Amino acid sequence: MNDVLKARDFLLSKTALRPQVGCVLGSGLGAFAGEVEERIEIPYSEIPGWPLSTAIGHAGKLVIGKVAGTPVAVMAGRVHFYEGYSIHQVVFPTRVLGALGVKSLLLTNAAGGIHPGYKQGCLVLLCDHINLQGTNPLIGPNDDGFGPRFPDMTEAYSRELRELAHSAARELRIELYEGVYAGLSGPSYETPAEIRYLRTIGADLVGMSTVPEAIVASHMGMRTLGISCVTNLAAGISHHKLSHQEVTETGERVRGDFTALLRAVLPRMA
Ligand code: HPA
Repeated sequence: MNDVLKARDFLLSKTALRPQVGCVLGSGLGAFAGEVEERIEIPYSEIPGWPLSTAIGHAGKLVIGKVAGTPVAVMAGRVHFYEGYSIHQVVFPTRVLGALGVKSLLLTNAAGGIHPGYKQGCLVLLCDHINLQGTNPLIGPNDDGFGPRFPDMTEAYSRELRELAHSAARELRIELYEGVYAGLSGPSYETPAEIRYLRTIGADLVGMSTVPEAIVASHMGMRTLGISCVTNLAAGISHHKLSHQEVTETGERVRGDFTALLRAVLPRMA
């Protein structure tokens, strides 16, 4: 708790804005940070205790400013479990956002599409997740100041926020699917057999992030929304090899729709 409060106090000293809406930008999706108005940018390296992202396609700064008049805290880049950070370090930024007063958190990510109806580049709202990272960020002594020992996960992704995102997408005529995200540790991509297994157990998307953050956000009583960009069809669904380059290129290609959607959704989450 103390290290979280130290980072929070540092951020409070940097700005008079008090954002109640937070956002995490995934691989290849960082460009939205440049759209935030009246923004200050704080490199992760300056924030006490904050883990530094090593993944390509991930900037490393916290942007605090406004989107359509609403104060927001936007993380351009996140750390992943596969980078070698402990699961507790992975969720440290989520804890800090919660301590800052963020009540609604939008988690975005690049994901592989498993559902046969998804096309490369489509946007999918998370309705639920399956934690296959082999760990849980709440393992260890529970800090009752954050939340309960056994938090409910029935609505890990807020129904109300999902409805609001769907209506924003309809207004913008952006196609927005809904699906279940399987979070794996990575960093190797899945094998075709693993993708068939994931499809069997009810996953529509697969990725290497988001799940720990969503668990911690639930623990702290934040409302969560998740949006995946299907940067590639999952292994064996497409017949070519997967590459991180494809992931970042697709993120770049959908930038217009993705940015428009975030600009519409974030202020409504307040
Ligand atoms: N698998 C896992 N993570 C991913 C993928 C994928 O196919 N695409 C983007 N992130």
